[in-house]
This record gives sequence, C-alpha cells and structure tokens, in this order.
Amino acid sequence: MYVYPIILTQSSFTHKDSLKYPFEERGLQFGDGIYEVVRIYHGTYYLLEAHVDRLFRSAEAIKIQLPYNKEELTNLLIELLEKNKMTNDGKVYMQVTRGSAPRDHVFPADVMPNIYAYVQDQSRNLAGLENGVHAITHRDIRWENCYIKSLNLLPNVLAKQTAKDNDCYEAILHKDSTVTECSSSNVYLVKDGKIFTHPATNNILHGCVRMAIERFTKEMNIPFIEEAFSVEDISLADEMFLSSSTSEITPVVKVDNTQIADGEPGPITINLQQAYERDANIHEIKIKQTL
Ligand SMILES: Cc1ncc(COP(=O)(O)O)c(C=O)c1O
Repeated sequence: MYVYPIILTQSSFTHKDSLKYPFEERGLQFGDGIYEVVRIYHGTYYLLEAHVDRLFRSAEAIKIQLPYNKEELTNLLIELLEKNKMTNDGKVYMQVTRGSAPRDHVFPADVMPNIYAYVQDQSRNLAGLENGVHAITHRDIRWENCYIKSLNLLPNVLAKQTAKDNDCYEAILHKDSTVTECSSSNVYLVKDGKIFTHPATNNILHGCVRMAIERFTKEMNIPFIEEAFSVEDISLADEMFLSSSTSEITPVVKVDNTQIADGEPGPITINLQQAYERDANIHEIKIKQTL
C-alpha cells in the first residue's frame, strides 16, 4: 500500500524518513497511547468529525493532553492531504502516545505527547462488499475499557490471526457467549427486519461507521436495537454484517460452520451499503441493487 511522503508530526509537516523516536518511547514500551484510522474517498475524509471527537475522548480517558483543539487538529489533517496532493481512496493513520521518557510505569512529568499521522492509499474491498465474508467466533479476552481506541491491540491481533489461519476475514468476539464486536469492526445481526448490536458500553469501540449506520436506519425506518445477541443466536440470523472505516459495511455470510440464511448478502445489509455509498459521496455505485 502506497504511503505518501509527508507526515504530520506534532504540529508540523515533515518527510516520513526523518521521523525518529528514541527507544524509550511510551507507545513502544507500554502501548501507552491511542490512535485513529480515518477513511478517505477521492481525497476527501469521510466521518472526520466523529473520528476527531473519539480521539479526544480516548485522550481524555487515558489522561493525555493534546496540544491542539479539535478545530486545529481537523485543519492539520486536511492540510496533510493537501500537502500530499492526495486524491485517491485511502486512509490516515494517526497515533498519539504519552511521549518519550526513561522507562517507568508512572506518568513522566512535563512530557509532550508524540504525535504522527500519515496517509496511505487503500482501495475498497469490493469482493468482500459484494459477496460477503466468513468469520469465526472467538473468546473476547480484552480489558474493560474497549471504548478507548488504545494501542494495546494484542488480543485483537491474536484473534484476527486465528481468523486468518482459518481462512476467515474476521473474528467475532464473545464474552461468555455474548457477542461484543469483532477484532477490528463492530458486528450486527438482522432478525425479522430488526438490527441487533451490542450497546455502546465500555465493552466495545463506539465505531464511527456504527454511528453512521444508526443514522441510516432512522432515515430508513429500520429498528436499530442496542441489545446484545449471543453466539447461539447466530444460527437463527436472517442476515449478519460488520462495519469499520476500512471494511465499510461488509456482509457476513458464514460463521464457523454455520451458513447465514441462504449464504448471500441480505436485503437490509445491501440497503445500508447503498446508504453508506450515498453518504460518503462515492460516485461510482458498485453495490448491486436490492432484489
Ligand atoms: C475493535 C474495533 N471495533 C470497531 C471498529 C470500527 O470503528 P470505526 O467504524 O470507527 O472504524 C474498529 C475499527 O478499527 C475496531 O478496531
């Protein structure tokens, strides 16, 4: 994936090859930091405001003081695309750590956060969007503050790798059989025309695409029910789908050895995909029309 040369670091712009961190860096040593991934279509951010809001919420939750306000950060992120003359589909990865300091669990005094953001090309996963993907179920062994978009992703990484090892796209996480979310996306079950998904508690990341989906369902008059479903409910689902900034709204057509309904993306999922494309102003509509 092509990475553009100019990166945002602290509050200025520099070439990515000149970014250097000492080895005593709290993000590296403790995972003491937060991040965001923002989708870009045709060189324009999608849902940027929601991502900036969440970055500030995550920073506050782990007591990192950002050196700018939301408007200043938004402007810097827009400038980052302009400086790179970015006009493609892509994404920005932005990371904020507590900073560089001699290794000690206690917060260092007077340390400035280390911040960088870079831009990458990222095309849409049209095969997954059109045909759906397979998933496994996996125990959710993460901590109790999953609403923070923290750098501590080891349980997510291990779950995703297990999915990959089983030729699957995602791992659907569950605590005592209650489905929370996936390793890097939110997950939904459709039954009798209603969408069920885990409530936005501390146990899941409050996805920006999840918020957009809730908005679409209001416009479309589809009940969006924030009620957790269980692993056992999956075999009775009419449709399933997952959402994230990189996966958009992706149908899930098989979970472990269970095919979801007829194994094809369902009509509610397809209608939401179309709403997403309209909302993101993606001109070349690729999602097939609802039957
Ligand atoms: C664990 C987890 N849940 C949900 C999401 C979806 O969040 P968003 O829609 O903001 O991309 C992500 C995205 O990376 C994630 O890592």
